[in-house]
This record gives sequence, C-alpha cells and structure tokens, in this order.
Amino acid sequence: MSFQLKGKVVFFATNNINKFNEARKVLGSYKIAVGMLRVKNLEIQSESLEEIAKTSVIHAFQQCRLPVIVEDAGLFIEALNGFPGPYASYVYKTIGNEGLLKLMKGVTNRKACFQSVVAYFSEELDTPVCFDGEASGEITEDVRKGCSGFGFDPIFKPYGSEKTFAEMSIDEKNKYSHRAKAFRKFAKWYKGFKG
Ligand code: IMP
Repeated sequence: MSFQLKGKVVFFATNNINKFNEARKVLGSYKIAVGMLRVKNLEIQSESLEEIAKTSVIHAFQQCRLPVIVEDAGLFIEALNGFPGPYASYVYKTIGNEGLLKLMKGVTNRKACFQSVVAYFSEELDTPVCFDGEASGEITEDVRKGCSGFGFDPIFKPYGSEKTFAEMSIDEKNKYSHRAKAFRKFAKWYKGFKG
C-alpha cells in the first residue's frame, strides 16, 4: 500500500488538524495530494525553526519511510524581544492568549510576526529541504475569536486586514499566513522536483 502511494502523495506529519486543513488547501491548488500522518512527534529545543523542522522531518521519515513534510511555526513579538518565538507551543499551553495579552498590557508597540518553516524529506534526498514563510501584523488588545482558527489566531491581526486570523475562513487566512507562504514555496519546488 505505502509502496503504491510513493511519488503520488506527500504526507504531512502533524497532530494539528487546523494546520493540515490549511496546508491541504494550498497544496490542492497546485494539484498535490496530501495525507495527514500522525507520528510520534520529536520536537527538539532550539532557537532555530529550521533546525527543529529538519530534525523532526528526519525523525518522522524514520517512522514512516514515506515522502513526508513537517512544519514548525513560531510567534515573534517585537516589544517582547521576539518572545515566545520558537517556544510558542509551550507558552500557548501555559499562559495562552489571555496570558500573552497580560504581558502586553499598556504596550503600544503591538508589532509581531508568525514564522513558519516547512521541511520535506523523502528517500530520493540526502538532506531535508526547507521553505519559509512569514506573516507580519499586530497583537490585538482583546481576544477576538471567530469561528475558526487555533492557537494565537484570536490575538493576531495581519497587516492589510481588519480581522484576526480566527475571524477568517481558511482561504482568507491563507492569503496572509506564514504557513500558506511556506507551503506555496514548497509546492512550486515539488512540481519541479516531480516533473
Ligand atoms: P508549532 O510548534 O509549529 O506547533 O507551533 C507552535 C505554537 O504556535 C502552536 O502551539 C500554536 O499555538 C502557535 N501557532 C503556530 N502556528 C499558528 C497559526 O497559524 N496560528 C495561531 N497560532 C499558531
């Protein structure tokens, strides 16, 4: 089964269905089929998203032996000297959106950016290939939940929009998002790679 799928489908190793749905929409527009793969995630501690993504994708490949993608993202807030950066997942789990807004209370510089690194590895490659994307914007004053999104989406408003990521549909978020930009770069490369 896995042998037949090789070369036709890429697999996105993630436990986050929101990330998967965002990626699937981007890859679909390039006619690239993607499957969601739940593998045991290895996320090393590093200040470099690329290093984290590269290590994780090799670990994922060792488990599935399929063409596999891993994506790692971080939120960098200017007034907090880039905090939480690559530690966004831990910060989200511990203090969440309300906690971050407390840290930002009275802070007028609300500039922030999301960064994403997509790493791909398959048996044809010697080392993983990486693609990055960035979304610049602002941390809102309040939590603005819409009907979609995850993580810090309710407190991040990209430049050029009045809505937070959480108030957008997937297609709208993909116009601005760090992840969509990184996946578009991957898709263009993959089209050339697979011919
Ligand atoms: P991860 O390590 O790539 O899963 O991302 C770290 C954390 O950043 C996640 O747990 C989310 O809370 C947050 N995050 C990553 N990407 C996004 C996004 O697109 N929107 C909102 N939060 C995100």
